[in-house]
Amino acid sequence: MNLRTLAVVAAASALVAACGGGGADDRQFPQNADMWQGRGGDAGAPVAVAKVVDDAVAGLLADPKEAPYFAVVGQPGHDSVGRLKACLNLQFKALFGGPYSYPGKVTADGTTQTCEDMVTAHADMGVPGCVFDQFITDAAAVLKADGVPDAYVARVAPVLVGTKGDIVSKSPRYLGPNTAQNCQ
Ligand code: HEM
Repeated sequence: MNLRTLAVVAAASALVAACGGGGADDRQFPQNADMWQGRGGDAGAPVAVAKVVDDAVAGLLADPKEAPYFAVVGQPGHDSVGRLKACLNLQFKALFGGPYSYPGKVTADGTTQTCEDMVTAHADMGVPGCVFDQFITDAAAVLKADGVPDAYVARVAPVLVGTKGDIVSKSPRYLGPNTAQNCQ
């Protein structure tokens, strides 16, 4: 997604948020049921979503601007990779119009676990705004690379952008190449 597209998405997101929606928490997305069917319905869509999540997590861990924030994954008191992927799968299955809602329960590491809302999950992460923006750009690129039609990306992206206020920290930590000067 280029900057112009991102600006349009951000403006759309602000509009959606102003109308009382916009977050990826506490939500089912029945209005996206056509997307669920378009990605293969209950038989195929979970597999398509799992590929997107796998590719997105691989991309995050390979990006020097984002990877340092994921160093906590696997540490005591934090997500395992299995839980992170299971919760992202649940969130994206809901977002793509499947019969799911987020937050909700998942099976990860052999147990049933309850995924957290976006504020709680990112409360102690110190995510700066520019890292969030990079995450959105990368997520949109993964969706496109995995064959998700542009029209679907355009419907999903504003919801993700709408979580910015829940995820970006008021006390950002600047890790890796990020500094207060180059990353707001
Ligand atoms: C639209 C953007 C984002 C979405 C939808 C999202 C979604 C999620 C979800 C579903 C979880 C799992 C919650 C749980 O285990 O209960 C999670 C955890 C996490 N997210 Fe995000 N996230 C986003 C942006 C970011 C960004 C930009 C970063 C940092 C670069 C980040 C870092 C993390 C980390 C480190 C965890 C694990 C937390 C822990 O183990 O304590 N996220 N995220």
